[in-house]
Amino acid sequence: MLLDKNYWTERYLNDDAAWDTGSITTPLKEYIDQLKDKNIQILIPGAGNAYEAEYLFNNGFKNITVIDLSSEPLNNLQKRIPDFPAENLIQGDFFEHSGQYHLILEQTFFCAIDPLLRIKYAEKSHELLKPKGVLAGVLFNDKLNSDKPPFGGNKEEYISYFDKYFTFKTFQLCYNSIKPRSGRELFINFIRK
Ligand SMILES: C[S@@+](CC[C@H](N)C(=O)[O-])C[C@H]1O[C@@H](n2cnc3c(N)ncnc32)[C@H](O)[C@@H]1O
Repeated sequence: MLLDKNYWTERYLNDDAAWDTGSITTPLKEYIDQLKDKNIQILIPGAGNAYEAEYLFNNGFKNITVIDLSSEPLNNLQKRIPDFPAENLIQGDFFEHSGQYHLILEQTFFCAIDPLLRIKYAEKSHELLKPKGVLAGVLFNDKLNSDKPPFGGNKEEYISYFDKYFTFKTFQLCYNSIKPRSGRELFINFIRK
């Protein structure tokens, strides 16, 4: 299965986006709410409609970069926030991206990529973060699918990818998941080694 730009764009165009929550989720919102420095450089990869970017922007964070393979959701975000800097909305491949960030926010991107790329995701996140930078957000702790997104996984498996690159500050069952994901996701706050 080719999980390329066309695959994802078709899903947006066909309104086949069950992952899209329509607004920021509680784990991401509450994590963002405790961030003090609004000048940090933040990357949201595989961001889709990027409700976190909207929330961050409306709350005074201005250094937000959003990247997605499909331009569909990026256009939606630009329409919702005309003032969002267009140059920070990147249609492209996370694995080809370059930059240096203090924070990467994860939600339903990791489960959307081919599981064979998971080790590369850990490596790439490490590469894109500044020293002591943070990878934070949610990862599914659920079997889900093995042949198409969303691909499942569990903590033990994830440790095998991230251990080399990150210190685990938080890596636990998420206590404030949205209802449909309750008990099925882990909150992560990983510090770049
Ligand atoms: C399941 S959706 C999740 C979107 C968003 N994070 C959310 O929670 O609504 C996965 C997203 O990742 C994007 N994507 C998949 N592979 C990508 C890649 N290699 N680089 C950038 N974006 C990618 C897709 O286009 C899609 O928008």
